[in-house]
Amino acid sequence: MTSVAGKRIVLGVSGGIAAYKAVEVCRRLMDGGAHVVPVLTKGATRFVGRTTFDALASEPARMSLFDEDGPIPHTALGRNADCVVVAPATARVIGAYAAGISSDLLTATLIATRAPVVICPAMHTEMWEHPAVVDNIATLAGRGVHIVGPESGRLAGGDEGAGRLSSPERIADEVGRILAGGAPGDMAGLSVVVTAGGTREPIDPVRFIANRSSGKQGYAFAEEAACRGAEVTVISTIDRPAPAGARMVRVGTAEEMASAAAAEAGGADVVVMAAAVADFRPAAPAGVKLKRRDGVPAITLEPTPDILASLGSSKPGGQILVGFAAETCDVAANAAAKLRDKGADYIVANDVAADHAGFAHDTNEVLVLASDGQTHQIGLRSKRQVARAVLDLVVAERNARTEARAGSKERQ
Ligand code: PMT
Repeated sequence: MTSVAGKRIVLGVSGGIAAYKAVEVCRRLMDGGAHVVPVLTKGATRFVGRTTFDALASEPARMSLFDEDGPIPHTALGRNADCVVVAPATARVIGAYAAGISSDLLTATLIATRAPVVICPAMHTEMWEHPAVVDNIATLAGRGVHIVGPESGRLAGGDEGAGRLSSPERIADEVGRILAGGAPGDMAGLSVVVTAGGTREPIDPVRFIANRSSGKQGYAFAEEAACRGAEVTVISTIDRPAPAGARMVRVGTAEEMASAAAAEAGGADVVVMAAAVADFRPAAPAGVKLKRRDGVPAITLEPTPDILASLGSSKPGGQILVGFAAETCDVAANAAAKLRDKGADYIVANDVAADHAGFAHDTNEVLVLASDGQTHQIGLRSKRQVARAVLDLVVAERNARTEARAGSKERQ
C-alpha cells in the first residue's frame, strides 16, 4: 500500500452488511500510519459496534451532528481531512451525497470537505443496477469522486452478482494511491475497449444460438481498468450497466459486435476481447417463428466475422490487443495457435471445462501467452484479480515500449 503515513483520513461507515469489513479497512490504514477518524451512520451501528472503532482508530467514532464537541463538527472534520473514505457506501449515502443532502454527520462531512473523496459502494445487485444509483454514481464520478468497486461475487442472503464491497486491501491501496499523487491509477489517460458476454445468433424471431458467457470476466476487466483511471468502453451483450465511469455499447449478434469493435477499437490504446463470440450463425434466419407442425427445420450455418483476427490485422501502432481462448482440451497448444493466427499481443487461455473456471463462475484460472514468447500462469482467483494480473502485464508492456522508444530517440 502506498504510504498513508501522517495523513488524516475520515473513514465513513454506512449501514450495510459489509460494515464489518470497515474494521479491516481501519486497521490497514492505521497500520500504514494514517490518523483515522471514524464517522458512523446510525445504520452502521446495527452491523458493527462503535466501540470496535473507538478501540482501533486514532480518535473515538463520531455519529451525530449534535452530540459532538464543538458547534460544527462536520466542517471541522471535512476541513482537516486529507481524504474522506466511505466504506461501505450504501445507496442512501450515495444518493444523499449526489443530491447534496446532509441528513447526518457523514453526509454533512462529505459535502463540507474539499479533500479527495473515495466512495466504496456495497449493495445488492438489483439496487446497484437501479437507474437512480447508476445516475448518482455517474454524477459523483463526473465531479471527480473516486469510485472503488463494487466487485462481483457472493452477497448477503446467498445471492451472487455485482455489488460486493471491494476488499479492504484494495480500498486501502486505492486510498494510498490517490493520496500519493492524486493519480487515479496507472492506466490514467489510456483508452480501453472491452468486449463482454455471449453473442446471440437468430434462428427465427424467437430462438437463437447462444453460449453460457455471463460477461463477468469482461466486466471485471472494465471495472479494473476504470478503477486504474482508464477511459473505458464496454461492448456488451449483457443487460447490466457499465461499471462506474465506463461507456456502454449494447450489441447482440457477432455482426453487431464486429461493427461496434471496428468503430471503437481504432482509437483505443488497449483492446480486451473477453466476449464469447459465436463462430457460426444460421445462414438464413426465418422471418417468422418456425412451427413444430412444419417438421424439424434443417438449419445451414455460416461463419461469423472473426473480430479478433480483423482487429489483429488492422492494429494501430502502439495498441495492445488481448484476445482470449476458451478451450476444453490442449489449452496451451490451442492458445498458441490463436496467438499465431490472430495477431494479438496476448492470448488469455482458460479451460472452460475446469471446475470454478470459465463461463459464469466468479473465479477463473488462465494461462497468458505473450507475443514475445513469455507465458504467465495465473492460478485460480476472482475474475477481478485475473483482470488485475493481466492488466499489470499490459501496463508493464506499455511502459517497456515507451522506454524503448525514449532510448532509441536518445541514440539518434
Ligand atoms: O463471461 P464469463 O461467464 O465470465 O466467462 C468468461 C469467458 C469464458 C467467456 C472468457 O474467459 C473467455 O474465454 N472469453 C472468450 C470466449 C471465446 O469466444 O473464446 P474463443 O476461443 O471461441 O475465441 C477466441 C478469441 O476470439 C476470443 O477473444 C473471442 O472474443 C474472439 N472471437 C471469437 C469468435 C469470433 N467470431 N470473433 C472473435 O473475435
